[in-house]
Amino acid sequence: MTVLVTGGAGFLGRELVRRLVAAGERVVSFDRITTGAGVPEVRGDITDRALLERVLREHAVSEVVHGAAIVGVTASVAGLADAVRVNIDGSVALFEAVLAVGGVRRLVDLSSEETYGHFTADPITEDDPARPISPYGITKYAVERLGEYYAGLPYVAARLCWVYGPGFPRRRLPHPWLEDAADGRPSILGQGGDQRIDFTYVDDVVDGVLLLLHADDLAHRAYNLATGEATGLRELAAEITKLCPDWHVDLGGGPLEMAPGVTAARKGALDITRARALGYAPRVSLADGLARTLAALETAGSTP
Ligand SMILES: NC(=O)c1ccc[n+]([C@@H]2O[C@H](COP(=O)([O-])OP(=O)(O)OC[C@H]3O[C@@H](n4cnc5c(N)ncnc54)[C@H](O)[C@@H]3O)[C@@H](O)[C@H]2O)c1
Repeated sequence: MTVLVTGGAGFLGRELVRRLVAAGERVVSFDRITTGAGVPEVRGDITDRALLERVLREHAVSEVVHGAAIVGVTASVAGLADAVRVNIDGSVALFEAVLAVGGVRRLVDLSSEETYGHFTADPITEDDPARPISPYGITKYAVERLGEYYAGLPYVAARLCWVYGPGFPRRRLPHPWLEDAADGRPSILGQGGDQRIDFTYVDDVVDGVLLLLHADDLAHRAYNLATGEATGLRELAAEITKLCPDWHVDLGGGPLEMAPGVTAARKGALDITRARALGYAPRVSLADGLARTLAALETAGSTP
């Protein structure tokens, strides 16, 4: 009985591997890079179905968390063909390998609130319309539909939203502001003050994914895993100022620009009623999560 974590060297993958090992599970990580995580790490491309089949067989994999992807709106806009190849072709390779080898009782796919496109409800439920507008969201939603398409695939999508915490690898809020605050610099954001986001601390997401992985029966094919509350960027700035009174941000109004010319979808809170019924209960408040992330940045900054 082994859990395969694809994208196991990534931000969420590393944390999932760590928590699974701490819980006494056997784990194998599959990624294009290795981290020396102390578990078997297979280096390969997620589109390599033959290699995936070998890993599933050799490690007698019983559960899969699928996180290998080109992640984020900005990356998907910069490299659309690569996002399609890795996110869609890679997921198809994994799904077909799982079906060919057998023995997998659950496959949790790390999906995204980007599948909703502009939120049509706040909080948004899993049954509200999914009309993704970014290339990233389109690939993630295509994967969800393909996961449901394959008969017999034990697929479930975890829809995550703006996960943050120590070690986050991209420049997405709250991280750039926390980095500026830790370095004693002010921040500038020309527009975005009207954006609202369900920021979710990494530990809570991992809790939710582990619940989905281990639940006996699941009534649904998609579960929102967030906090159920959205924070406006002005409120976010106020929380960071409480931690770092000398920091401030020049923040314009309107929607957020993810990259020059790429406006974020209108967002809000994710309804987590479905996940709560499985026992999911986010534990880390925004204030605590920001404080923990800032402390990690300050510790890293003080390392010689
Ligand atoms: N972090 C978030 O806020 C968030 C929100 C919603 C969904 N997700 C999803 O969660 C998953 C993990 O995200 P993350 O934040 O840890 O990102 P990440 O970039 O840290 O992790 C992705 C991992 O996938 C690996 N990878 C990329 N291309 C690959 C390929 N061709 N073959 C094998 N491995 C490859 C990368 O090396 C990386 O380690 C992704 O599927 C992402 O879409 C994340």
